[in-house]
Amino acid sequence: MKDTEAELELLVRSKYTLILLDTVEPERADAVLAAIAARLSLFHYSWSRSRGLRRGITNSDPVIEKTAEPALALARVVEEGAGIFHFRGLGVHLEDPLVASHVLDAVAHLATRRGAIVISGSRSHLPDALRPLAVQLTLPVPDFAEHRRLLERLIREYSARMPLKVELTKEDEARLVNNLVGLTLNEAERVITRLIMYDGALREGDIPRAAAAKREAVEQDGLLEYHPAESGLDEVAGLSGLKSWLAPRRAVVNDPQAARAFGLGFPRGVLLLGVPGCGKSLAAKAIAREWGLPLLKLDPANLYDKYIGDSEKNFKRAMQTAERLAPIVLWIDELEKAFAASSGESDGGVSRRVFGTFLSWLQERKRDVFVAATSNDIASLPAEFIRKGRFDEIFFVDLPDVAARAEILRIHMRKRKQDPARVDIPALAAASEGFSGAELEQAVVGGLYSAFASGAALDTARLAKEISGTRPLSGTMRERIAELRHWAADRAVPAG
Ligand SMILES: Nc1ncnc2c1ncn2[C@@H]1O[C@H](COP(=O)(O)OP(=O)(O)OP(=O)(O)O)[C@@H](O)[C@H]1O
Ligand SMILES: [Mg+2]
Repeated sequence: MKDTEAELELLVRSKYTLILLDTVEPERADAVLAAIAARLSLFHYSWSRSRGLRRGITNSDPVIEKTAEPALALARVVEEGAGIFHFRGLGVHLEDPLVASHVLDAVAHLATRRGAIVISGSRSHLPDALRPLAVQLTLPVPDFAEHRRLLERLIREYSARMPLKVELTKEDEARLVNNLVGLTLNEAERVITRLIMYDGALREGDIPRAAAAKREAVEQDGLLEYHPAESGLDEVAGLSGLKSWLAPRRAVVNDPQAARAFGLGFPRGVLLLGVPGCGKSLAAKAIAREWGLPLLKLDPANLYDKYIGDSEKNFKRAMQTAERLAPIVLWIDELEKAFAASSGESDGGVSRRVFGTFLSWLQERKRDVFVAATSNDIASLPAEFIRKGRFDEIFFVDLPDVAARAEILRIHMRKRKQDPARVDIPALAAASEGFSGAELEQAVVGGLYSAFASGAALDTARLAKEISGTRPLSGTMRERIAELRHWAADRAVPAG
Protein backbone atom coordinates (compact mmCIF):
# COMPACT_ATOMS: atom_id res chain seq x y z
CA MET A 1 0.00 0.00 0.00
CA LYS A 2 2.79 2.38 0.94
CA ASP A 3 4.27 1.53 -2.46
CA THR A 4 1.14 2.60 -4.28
CA GLU A 5 1.01 5.82 -2.33
CA ALA A 6 4.65 6.53 -3.19
CA GLU A 7 4.02 5.69 -6.81
CA LEU A 8 1.03 7.99 -6.97
CA GLU A 9 3.02 10.80 -5.45
CA LEU A 10 5.81 10.25 -7.92
CA LEU A 11 3.35 10.39 -10.80
CA VAL A 12 1.93 13.70 -9.63
CA ARG A 13 5.40 15.13 -9.10
CA SER A 14 6.44 13.91 -12.55
CA LYS A 15 3.57 15.90 -14.04
CA TYR A 16 1.28 13.08 -14.98
CA THR A 17 -1.91 15.08 -15.00
CA LEU A 18 -4.50 12.38 -15.65
CA ILE A 19 -4.49 9.33 -13.43
CA LEU A 20 -6.99 6.52 -13.46
CA LEU A 21 -7.20 4.88 -10.07
CA ASP A 22 -8.84 1.50 -9.92
CA THR A 23 -10.49 0.98 -6.55
CA VAL A 24 -13.75 0.05 -4.86
CA GLU A 25 -12.93 2.35 -1.95
CA PRO A 26 -13.30 6.00 -2.94
CA GLU A 27 -12.99 7.17 0.69
CA ARG A 28 -9.69 5.46 1.06
CA ALA A 29 -8.52 6.95 -2.22
CA ASP A 30 -9.53 10.34 -0.84
CA ALA A 31 -7.45 9.80 2.28
CA VAL A 32 -4.42 8.70 0.28
CA LEU A 33 -4.70 11.62 -2.15
CA ALA A 34 -5.20 14.13 0.66
CA ALA A 35 -1.99 12.91 2.30
CA ILE A 36 -0.10 13.29 -0.97
CA ALA A 37 -1.55 16.75 -1.57
CA ALA A 38 -0.45 17.83 1.91
CA ARG A 39 3.09 16.65 1.27
CA LEU A 40 3.21 18.50 -2.04
CA SER A 41 1.61 21.64 -0.53
CA LEU A 42 -1.33 21.40 -2.87
CA PHE A 43 -5.03 21.69 -2.19
CA HIS A 44 -6.99 18.50 -2.34
CA TYR A 45 -10.39 18.52 -4.00
CA SER A 46 -12.89 15.72 -4.09
CA TRP A 47 -15.85 15.47 -6.44
CA SER A 48 -18.83 13.17 -6.51
CA ARG A 49 -21.94 13.44 -8.65
CA SER A 50 -24.27 13.80 -5.70
CA ARG A 51 -22.28 16.39 -3.80
CA GLY A 52 -20.22 18.35 -6.27
CA LEU A 53 -16.66 19.59 -5.83
CA ARG A 54 -15.33 20.12 -2.33
CA ARG A 55 -12.00 21.47 -1.15
CA GLY A 56 -10.74 19.11 1.55
CA ILE A 57 -12.15 15.78 2.60
CA THR A 58 -14.07 16.35 5.81
CA ASN A 59 -17.77 17.07 5.87
CA SER A 60 -17.15 20.54 7.23
CA ASP A 61 -15.05 21.50 4.22
CA PRO A 62 -16.89 23.83 1.87
CA VAL A 63 -18.56 22.49 -1.23
CA ILE A 64 -18.13 24.74 -4.26
CA GLU A 65 -21.53 25.77 -5.50
CA LYS A 66 -23.03 24.47 -8.74
CA THR A 67 -20.39 21.83 -9.36
CA ALA A 68 -22.48 18.67 -9.25
CA GLU A 69 -22.60 18.59 -13.05
CA PRO A 70 -19.38 16.91 -14.21
CA ALA A 71 -18.76 19.49 -16.95
CA LEU A 72 -19.16 22.41 -14.53
CA ALA A 73 -16.90 20.80 -11.95
CA LEU A 74 -14.21 20.23 -14.56
CA ALA A 75 -14.51 23.81 -15.77
CA ARG A 76 -13.93 24.82 -12.18
CA VAL A 77 -10.58 22.98 -12.15
CA VAL A 78 -9.25 25.54 -14.59
CA GLU A 79 -10.44 28.39 -12.36
CA GLU A 80 -9.03 26.92 -9.17
CA GLY A 81 -5.60 26.64 -10.74
CA ALA A 82 -3.43 24.00 -9.11
CA GLY A 83 -4.40 21.05 -6.93
CA ILE A 84 -5.12 17.36 -6.78
CA PHE A 85 -8.63 16.89 -8.08
CA HIS A 86 -10.18 13.59 -7.20
CA PHE A 87 -13.20 12.75 -9.33
CA ARG A 88 -14.99 9.82 -7.78
CA GLY A 89 -16.86 7.69 -10.28
CA LEU A 90 -16.44 10.10 -13.17
CA GLY A 91 -15.82 7.12 -15.46
CA VAL A 92 -19.46 6.64 -16.41
CA HIS A 93 -19.78 10.29 -17.46
CA LEU A 94 -16.85 10.17 -19.86
CA GLU A 95 -18.98 8.81 -22.64
CA ASP A 96 -20.45 12.29 -22.89
CA PRO A 97 -18.18 14.08 -25.39
CA LEU A 98 -18.73 17.39 -23.59
CA VAL A 99 -17.41 15.95 -20.33
CA ALA A 100 -14.49 14.31 -22.13
CA SER A 101 -13.54 17.58 -23.76
CA HIS A 102 -13.64 19.36 -20.39
CA VAL A 103 -11.29 16.72 -19.03
CA LEU A 104 -8.95 17.44 -21.96
CA ASP A 105 -9.01 21.18 -21.17
CA ALA A 106 -8.43 20.65 -17.48
CA VAL A 107 -5.58 18.25 -18.09
CA ALA A 108 -3.94 20.67 -20.52
CA HIS A 109 -4.33 23.45 -17.96
CA LEU A 110 -2.82 21.44 -15.12
CA ALA A 111 0.16 20.59 -17.29
CA THR A 112 1.13 24.25 -17.10
CA ARG A 113 0.51 24.40 -13.33
CA ARG A 114 0.86 21.77 -10.62
CA GLY A 115 -1.39 18.89 -9.75
CA ALA A 116 -3.46 16.20 -11.38
CA ILE A 117 -6.92 14.90 -12.07
CA VAL A 118 -7.47 11.51 -10.53
CA ILE A 119 -10.49 9.54 -11.69
CA SER A 120 -11.31 6.71 -9.32
CA GLY A 121 -13.71 3.87 -9.76
CA SER A 122 -13.65 0.25 -10.68
CA ARG A 123 -12.55 -0.49 -14.19
CA SER A 124 -13.37 2.90 -15.67
CA HIS A 125 -12.96 3.05 -19.39
CA LEU A 126 -11.50 6.09 -21.05
CA PRO A 127 -12.63 7.39 -24.42
CA ASP A 128 -9.99 7.19 -27.16
CA ALA A 129 -9.18 10.90 -26.99
CA LEU A 130 -8.10 10.65 -23.34
CA ARG A 131 -6.39 7.32 -23.29
CA PRO A 132 -2.94 8.47 -24.44
CA LEU A 133 -2.90 11.11 -21.69
CA ALA A 134 -3.69 8.82 -18.80
CA VAL A 135 -1.79 6.45 -16.58
CA GLN A 136 -3.56 3.73 -14.73
CA LEU A 137 -2.94 2.50 -11.23
CA THR A 138 -4.68 0.08 -8.91
CA LEU A 139 -5.17 0.86 -5.26
CA PRO A 140 -4.57 -2.52 -3.68
CA VAL A 141 -7.07 -3.78 -1.13
CA PRO A 142 -6.04 -2.98 2.42
CA ASP A 143 -3.50 -5.45 3.73
CA PHE A 144 -3.05 -7.04 7.11
CA ALA A 145 -1.17 -4.06 8.54
CA GLU A 146 -3.87 -1.60 7.54
CA HIS A 147 -6.60 -3.74 9.01
CA ARG A 148 -4.61 -4.04 12.21
CA ARG A 149 -4.20 -0.28 12.39
CA LEU A 150 -7.93 0.10 11.90
CA LEU A 151 -8.62 -2.36 14.72
CA GLU A 152 -6.22 -0.52 17.03
CA ARG A 153 -7.75 2.83 16.18
CA LEU A 154 -11.28 1.62 16.83
CA ILE A 155 -10.26 0.05 20.13
CA ARG A 156 -8.74 3.40 21.15
CA GLU A 157 -11.77 5.37 20.08
CA TYR A 158 -14.35 3.13 21.74
CA SER A 159 -12.30 2.76 24.92
CA ALA A 160 -12.39 6.53 25.30
CA ARG A 161 -16.17 6.52 25.08
CA MET A 162 -17.25 3.37 26.89
CA PRO A 163 -15.96 0.65 29.17
CA LEU A 164 -14.54 -1.71 26.56
CA LYS A 165 -13.01 -5.01 27.60
CA VAL A 166 -10.29 -6.18 25.25
CA GLU A 167 -9.26 -9.72 26.05
CA LEU A 168 -7.39 -10.65 22.90
CA THR A 169 -3.99 -12.30 22.99
CA LYS A 170 -1.55 -11.26 20.28
CA GLU A 171 -2.44 -14.42 18.45
CA ASP A 172 -6.20 -13.86 18.76
CA GLU A 173 -5.71 -10.39 17.40
CA ALA A 174 -3.81 -11.69 14.39
CA ARG A 175 -6.54 -14.24 13.71
CA LEU A 176 -9.22 -11.61 14.02
CA VAL A 177 -7.40 -9.33 11.61
CA ASN A 178 -6.83 -12.20 9.20
CA ASN A 179 -10.55 -12.67 9.08
CA LEU A 180 -10.99 -9.07 8.02
CA VAL A 181 -8.49 -9.10 5.18
CA GLY A 182 -10.36 -8.97 1.90
CA LEU A 183 -12.91 -6.49 3.17
CA THR A 184 -12.71 -2.82 2.41
CA LEU A 185 -11.81 -0.66 5.40
CA ASN A 186 -15.38 0.60 5.57
CA GLU A 187 -16.75 -2.89 5.70
CA ALA A 188 -14.16 -3.92 8.26
CA GLU A 189 -15.03 -0.93 10.43
CA ARG A 190 -18.68 -1.93 10.42
CA VAL A 191 -17.78 -5.50 11.34
CA ILE A 192 -15.51 -4.47 14.23
CA THR A 193 -18.04 -1.96 15.53
CA ARG A 194 -20.68 -4.66 15.57
CA LEU A 195 -18.38 -7.00 17.50
CA ILE A 196 -17.75 -4.26 20.07
CA MET A 197 -21.39 -3.25 20.41
CA TYR A 198 -22.50 -6.84 20.77
CA ASP A 199 -21.23 -7.21 24.34
CA GLY A 200 -18.90 -4.32 25.04
CA ALA A 201 -15.90 -6.60 24.68
CA LEU A 202 -13.50 -8.04 22.16
CA ARG A 203 -12.48 -11.58 22.93
CA GLU A 204 -11.62 -14.86 21.29
CA GLY A 205 -15.26 -15.71 20.68
CA ASP A 206 -15.46 -12.75 18.31
CA ILE A 207 -13.13 -14.37 15.78
CA PRO A 208 -15.74 -16.73 14.31
CA ARG A 209 -18.21 -13.84 14.42
CA ALA A 210 -15.83 -11.77 12.32
CA ALA A 211 -15.55 -14.63 9.86
CA ALA A 212 -19.34 -14.88 9.67
CA ALA A 213 -19.71 -11.15 9.17
CA LYS A 214 -17.17 -11.25 6.37
CA ARG A 215 -19.05 -14.11 4.78
CA GLU A 216 -22.21 -12.05 4.93
CA ALA A 217 -20.52 -9.12 3.26
CA VAL A 218 -19.30 -11.36 0.45
CA GLU A 219 -22.50 -13.29 -0.05
CA GLN A 220 -24.67 -10.19 -0.25
CA ASP A 221 -24.37 -10.31 -4.02
CA GLY A 222 -26.00 -13.70 -4.24
CA LEU A 223 -23.50 -14.91 -6.83
CA LEU A 224 -20.63 -16.00 -4.65
CA GLU A 225 -20.79 -18.30 -1.73
CA TYR A 226 -18.17 -19.48 0.71
CA HIS A 227 -17.97 -23.20 0.51
CA PRO A 228 -16.52 -25.38 3.22
CA ALA A 229 -13.72 -27.47 1.73
CA GLU A 230 -14.30 -30.60 3.79
CA SER A 231 -11.95 -33.05 2.16
CA GLY A 232 -8.48 -32.86 0.76
CA LEU A 233 -6.98 -34.71 -2.17
CA ASP A 234 -6.26 -37.75 -0.02
CA GLU A 235 -9.98 -38.44 -0.11
CA VAL A 236 -10.04 -38.35 -3.89
CA ALA A 237 -9.07 -41.66 -5.43
CA GLY A 238 -7.14 -41.88 -8.68
CA LEU A 239 -6.63 -38.65 -10.66
CA SER A 240 -2.89 -39.01 -10.20
CA GLY A 241 -2.21 -36.83 -13.24
CA LEU A 242 -4.10 -33.96 -11.71
CA LYS A 243 -2.53 -34.52 -8.32
CA SER A 244 0.99 -34.47 -9.64
CA TRP A 245 0.20 -31.29 -11.56
CA LEU A 246 -1.07 -29.64 -8.39
CA ALA A 247 1.69 -30.78 -6.05
CA PRO A 248 4.59 -28.60 -7.23
CA ARG A 249 2.32 -25.56 -7.41
CA ARG A 250 1.55 -25.67 -3.75
CA ALA A 251 4.82 -23.96 -2.87
CA VAL A 252 3.97 -21.15 -5.28
CA VAL A 253 0.55 -20.67 -3.74
CA ASN A 254 1.99 -20.61 -0.24
CA ASP A 255 4.48 -17.89 -1.05
CA PRO A 256 3.43 -16.07 -4.22
CA GLN A 257 5.82 -13.16 -3.63
CA ALA A 258 8.88 -15.35 -3.47
CA ALA A 259 7.62 -17.35 -6.44
CA ARG A 260 7.18 -14.18 -8.49
CA ALA A 261 10.71 -13.10 -7.68
CA PHE A 262 11.71 -16.48 -8.99
CA GLY A 263 9.78 -15.95 -12.20
CA LEU A 264 6.76 -18.09 -11.35
CA GLY A 265 3.27 -16.63 -11.47
CA PHE A 266 0.30 -17.73 -9.42
CA PRO A 267 -1.39 -20.69 -11.13
CA ARG A 268 -4.46 -19.53 -13.05
CA GLY A 269 -6.76 -22.49 -13.12
CA VAL A 270 -7.83 -25.85 -14.39
CA LEU A 271 -10.84 -27.11 -16.28
CA LEU A 272 -11.93 -30.61 -15.34
CA LEU A 273 -14.00 -32.32 -18.02
CA GLY A 274 -15.36 -35.80 -18.09
CA VAL A 275 -17.65 -38.58 -17.12
CA PRO A 276 -20.39 -37.82 -14.55
CA GLY A 277 -19.83 -39.00 -11.00
CA CYS A 278 -16.10 -39.53 -11.26
CA GLY A 279 -14.83 -36.89 -8.89
CA LYS A 280 -14.61 -33.63 -10.83
CA SER A 281 -16.52 -31.56 -8.30
CA LEU A 282 -14.88 -33.43 -5.46
CA ALA A 283 -11.40 -32.70 -6.82
CA ALA A 284 -12.16 -29.05 -7.53
CA LYS A 285 -13.14 -28.54 -3.90
CA ALA A 286 -10.20 -30.55 -2.62
CA ILE A 287 -7.74 -28.17 -4.32
CA ALA A 288 -8.72 -25.40 -1.91
CA ARG A 289 -8.21 -27.63 1.09
CA GLU A 290 -4.93 -28.92 -0.28
CA TRP A 291 -3.57 -25.45 -0.84
CA GLY A 292 -5.06 -24.01 2.33
CA LEU A 293 -7.03 -21.35 0.47
CA PRO A 294 -10.63 -20.29 1.01
CA LEU A 295 -13.07 -21.79 -1.49
CA LEU A 296 -15.59 -19.50 -3.12
CA LYS A 297 -18.26 -20.98 -5.32
CA LEU A 298 -19.81 -19.07 -8.17
CA ASP A 299 -23.43 -20.05 -8.39
CA PRO A 300 -24.48 -19.81 -12.04
CA ALA A 301 -28.13 -20.37 -11.11
CA ASN A 302 -28.41 -16.80 -9.86
CA LEU A 303 -26.49 -15.34 -12.74
CA TYR A 304 -29.45 -14.85 -15.02
CA ASP A 305 -32.10 -14.37 -12.38
CA LYS A 306 -34.02 -11.34 -13.51
CA TYR A 307 -35.06 -10.58 -9.93
CA ILE A 308 -31.45 -10.14 -8.97
CA GLY A 309 -31.02 -7.58 -11.70
CA ASP A 310 -28.45 -6.73 -14.30
CA SER A 311 -26.56 -9.99 -14.95
CA GLU A 312 -23.53 -8.39 -16.48
CA LYS A 313 -23.04 -5.90 -13.67
CA ASN A 314 -23.62 -8.53 -11.01
CA PHE A 315 -21.12 -10.77 -12.65
CA LYS A 316 -18.48 -8.05 -12.80
CA ARG A 317 -19.06 -7.23 -9.17
CA ALA A 318 -18.76 -10.88 -8.22
CA MET A 319 -15.43 -11.10 -10.03
CA GLN A 320 -14.24 -7.98 -8.23
CA THR A 321 -15.23 -9.48 -4.92
CA ALA A 322 -13.38 -12.66 -5.82
CA GLU A 323 -10.26 -10.65 -6.60
CA ARG A 324 -10.62 -8.68 -3.42
CA LEU A 325 -10.54 -11.87 -1.38
CA ALA A 326 -7.52 -13.24 -3.21
CA PRO A 327 -5.72 -15.54 -2.77
CA ILE A 328 -8.67 -17.91 -3.18
CA VAL A 329 -9.90 -20.82 -5.23
CA LEU A 330 -12.92 -19.84 -7.28
CA TRP A 331 -14.98 -22.91 -8.00
CA ILE A 332 -17.30 -22.82 -11.00
CA ASP A 333 -19.18 -26.07 -11.06
CA GLU A 334 -20.93 -27.19 -14.23
CA LEU A 335 -19.51 -24.42 -16.30
CA GLU A 336 -21.84 -25.25 -19.19
CA LYS A 337 -24.84 -24.23 -17.06
CA ALA A 338 -23.54 -20.71 -16.75
CA PHE A 339 -22.14 -20.33 -20.22
CA ALA A 340 -23.83 -22.73 -22.59
CA ALA A 341 -22.87 -22.26 -26.24
CA SER A 342 -26.48 -22.52 -27.36
CA SER A 343 -28.11 -19.94 -25.07
CA GLY A 344 -27.16 -17.08 -27.28
CA GLU A 345 -29.90 -14.92 -28.57
CA SER A 346 -32.95 -16.10 -26.65
CA ASP A 347 -32.21 -13.71 -23.79
CA GLY A 348 -31.32 -10.73 -25.92
CA GLY A 349 -27.64 -11.60 -25.86
CA VAL A 350 -27.23 -11.19 -22.10
CA SER A 351 -25.58 -14.55 -21.62
CA ARG A 352 -23.28 -13.87 -24.57
CA ARG A 353 -22.17 -10.62 -22.99
CA VAL A 354 -21.67 -12.17 -19.57
CA PHE A 355 -19.69 -14.91 -21.25
CA GLY A 356 -17.52 -12.33 -23.00
CA THR A 357 -16.93 -10.56 -19.70
CA PHE A 358 -15.94 -13.81 -18.11
CA LEU A 359 -13.52 -14.72 -20.90
CA SER A 360 -11.71 -11.43 -20.69
CA TRP A 361 -11.64 -11.63 -16.92
CA LEU A 362 -10.10 -15.10 -17.17
CA GLN A 363 -7.38 -13.66 -19.31
CA GLU A 364 -6.79 -10.35 -17.60
CA ARG A 365 -7.40 -10.89 -13.91
CA LYS A 366 -4.57 -9.43 -11.91
CA ARG A 367 -4.99 -10.94 -8.52
CA ASP A 368 -4.34 -14.42 -7.27
CA VAL A 369 -7.56 -16.22 -8.04
CA PHE A 370 -7.26 -19.86 -9.03
CA VAL A 371 -10.24 -20.96 -11.08
CA ALA A 372 -11.33 -24.57 -10.72
CA ALA A 373 -14.04 -25.22 -13.29
CA THR A 374 -15.85 -28.45 -14.05
CA SER A 375 -18.10 -29.70 -16.82
CA ASN A 376 -19.50 -33.02 -17.98
CA ASP A 377 -21.04 -31.70 -21.16
CA ILE A 378 -18.42 -30.77 -23.65
CA ALA A 379 -20.84 -30.37 -26.53
CA SER A 380 -22.61 -27.42 -24.95
CA LEU A 381 -19.44 -25.71 -23.73
CA PRO A 382 -18.36 -22.77 -25.89
CA ALA A 383 -15.18 -23.59 -27.78
CA GLU A 384 -13.46 -20.45 -26.45
CA PHE A 385 -12.88 -22.14 -23.09
CA ILE A 386 -10.68 -24.73 -24.68
CA ARG A 387 -8.30 -22.27 -26.28
CA LYS A 388 -4.85 -21.85 -24.81
CA GLY A 389 -4.41 -19.31 -22.08
CA ARG A 390 -7.82 -19.47 -20.44
CA PHE A 391 -6.82 -22.29 -18.13
CA ASP A 392 -3.39 -23.63 -17.32
CA GLU A 393 -4.53 -27.11 -18.15
CA ILE A 394 -7.59 -29.05 -19.22
CA PHE A 395 -7.94 -32.42 -17.56
CA PHE A 396 -10.09 -35.28 -18.70
CA VAL A 397 -11.59 -37.30 -15.85
CA ASP A 398 -12.41 -40.81 -16.97
CA LEU A 399 -14.09 -43.75 -15.24
CA PRO A 400 -11.86 -45.08 -12.44
CA ASP A 401 -9.61 -48.02 -13.29
CA VAL A 402 -9.41 -51.06 -11.06
CA ALA A 403 -6.86 -49.52 -8.66
CA ALA A 404 -8.87 -46.32 -8.33
CA ARG A 405 -12.06 -48.31 -7.77
CA ALA A 406 -10.39 -50.16 -4.91
CA GLU A 407 -9.29 -46.86 -3.44
CA ILE A 408 -12.77 -45.35 -3.78
CA LEU A 409 -14.31 -48.32 -1.98
CA ARG A 410 -11.76 -47.96 0.81
CA ILE A 411 -12.29 -44.22 1.15
CA HIS A 412 -16.03 -44.53 1.43
CA MET A 413 -15.92 -47.45 3.81
CA ARG A 414 -13.59 -45.55 6.09
CA LYS A 415 -15.80 -42.48 5.90
CA ARG A 416 -18.58 -44.59 7.31
CA LYS A 417 -16.55 -46.17 10.08
CA GLN A 418 -16.06 -49.47 8.26
CA ASP A 419 -12.72 -51.23 8.18
CA PRO A 420 -11.86 -51.99 4.53
CA ALA A 421 -9.42 -54.69 5.62
CA ARG A 422 -12.42 -56.82 6.57
CA VAL A 423 -13.69 -57.15 3.00
CA ASP A 424 -12.14 -58.41 -0.21
CA ILE A 425 -11.49 -55.07 -1.86
CA PRO A 426 -9.58 -56.43 -4.91
CA ALA A 427 -12.46 -58.77 -5.81
CA LEU A 428 -15.05 -55.99 -5.44
CA ALA A 429 -12.93 -53.60 -7.52
CA ALA A 430 -12.60 -56.23 -10.22
CA ALA A 431 -16.35 -56.84 -10.21
CA SER A 432 -17.23 -53.18 -10.65
CA GLU A 433 -15.80 -52.43 -14.05
CA GLY A 434 -17.55 -49.42 -15.57
CA PHE A 435 -18.70 -48.02 -12.20
CA SER A 436 -18.29 -44.36 -11.47
CA GLY A 437 -17.05 -43.14 -8.09
CA ALA A 438 -20.55 -42.02 -7.22
CA GLU A 439 -21.93 -45.48 -7.99
CA LEU A 440 -19.26 -47.18 -5.90
CA GLU A 441 -20.10 -44.86 -3.03
CA GLN A 442 -23.75 -45.77 -3.47
CA ALA A 443 -22.87 -49.47 -3.32
CA VAL A 444 -21.14 -48.93 0.02
CA VAL A 445 -24.09 -46.97 1.37
CA GLY A 446 -26.59 -49.55 0.08
CA GLY A 447 -24.59 -52.39 1.63
CA LEU A 448 -24.48 -50.55 4.91
CA TYR A 449 -28.26 -50.10 4.99
CA SER A 450 -28.87 -53.73 4.35
CA ALA A 451 -26.29 -54.80 6.94
CA PHE A 452 -27.77 -52.48 9.56
CA ALA A 453 -31.31 -53.68 8.88
CA SER A 454 -30.34 -57.30 9.42
CA GLY A 455 -28.13 -56.56 12.39
CA ALA A 456 -25.04 -57.93 10.67
CA ALA A 457 -21.65 -56.48 9.75
CA LEU A 458 -20.91 -55.12 6.31
CA ASP A 459 -19.12 -57.91 4.46
CA THR A 460 -17.88 -58.78 0.99
CA ALA A 461 -21.03 -60.68 0.05
CA ARG A 462 -23.30 -57.74 0.76
CA LEU A 463 -21.13 -55.34 -1.18
CA ALA A 464 -20.85 -57.80 -4.07
CA LYS A 465 -24.64 -58.04 -4.11
CA GLU A 466 -25.00 -54.26 -4.25
CA ILE A 467 -22.52 -54.13 -7.11
CA SER A 468 -24.12 -56.87 -9.16
CA GLY A 469 -27.50 -55.26 -8.64
CA THR A 470 -26.36 -51.92 -10.06
CA ARG A 471 -26.50 -51.09 -13.75
CA PRO A 472 -23.82 -48.47 -14.07
CA LEU A 473 -24.61 -45.37 -16.04
CA SER A 474 -21.58 -46.03 -18.23
CA GLY A 475 -23.54 -48.90 -19.79
CA THR A 476 -26.40 -46.74 -20.96
CA MET A 477 -24.04 -43.91 -21.77
CA ARG A 478 -21.53 -46.00 -23.68
CA GLU A 479 -21.71 -43.90 -26.81
CA ARG A 480 -21.52 -40.61 -25.00
CA ILE A 481 -18.50 -41.72 -23.05
CA ALA A 482 -16.79 -42.94 -26.22
CA GLU A 483 -17.45 -39.53 -27.76
CA LEU A 484 -16.10 -37.77 -24.69
CA ARG A 485 -12.92 -39.84 -24.79
CA HIS A 486 -12.48 -39.28 -28.47
CA TRP A 487 -12.95 -35.55 -28.04
CA ALA A 488 -10.55 -35.40 -25.12
CA ALA A 489 -7.85 -37.48 -26.75
CA ASP A 490 -6.12 -34.55 -28.40
CA ARG A 491 -7.54 -31.66 -26.38
CA ALA A 492 -7.10 -32.61 -22.75
CA VAL A 493 -4.62 -34.28 -20.45
CA PRO A 494 -5.77 -37.46 -18.71
CA ALA A 495 -6.47 -36.66 -15.06
CA GLY A 496 -6.05 -40.28 -14.03
N1 LIG B 1 -12.30 -40.36 -7.51
C1 LIG B 1 -13.14 -40.39 -6.47
N2 LIG B 1 -12.67 -40.61 -5.22
C2 LIG B 1 -13.49 -40.64 -4.16
N3 LIG B 1 -14.81 -40.45 -4.24
C3 LIG B 1 -15.35 -40.25 -5.44
C4 LIG B 1 -14.54 -40.19 -6.62
N4 LIG B 1 -15.33 -39.93 -7.67
C5 LIG B 1 -16.58 -39.81 -7.18
N5 LIG B 1 -16.60 -40.01 -5.85
C6 LIG B 1 -17.79 -39.94 -4.98
O1 LIG B 1 -18.91 -39.64 -5.78
C7 LIG B 1 -19.47 -38.39 -5.44
C8 LIG B 1 -19.86 -37.63 -6.69
O2 LIG B 1 -18.69 -37.23 -7.39
P1 LIG B 1 -18.54 -35.79 -8.05
O3 LIG B 1 -19.70 -34.96 -7.63
O4 LIG B 1 -17.21 -35.27 -7.76
O5 LIG B 1 -18.69 -36.16 -9.56
P2 LIG B 1 -18.56 -35.24 -10.83
O6 LIG B 1 -17.44 -35.78 -11.63
O7 LIG B 1 -18.50 -33.83 -10.43
O8 LIG B 1 -19.93 -35.56 -11.55
P3 LIG B 1 -20.89 -34.62 -12.42
O9 LIG B 1 -20.29 -34.57 -13.78
O10 LIG B 1 -22.17 -35.36 -12.39
O11 LIG B 1 -20.94 -33.30 -11.75
C9 LIG B 1 -18.40 -37.67 -4.66
O12 LIG B 1 -18.95 -36.79 -3.72
C10 LIG B 1 -17.67 -38.81 -3.99
O13 LIG B 1 -18.30 -39.16 -2.80
MG1 LIG C 1 -19.92 -32.31 -10.47
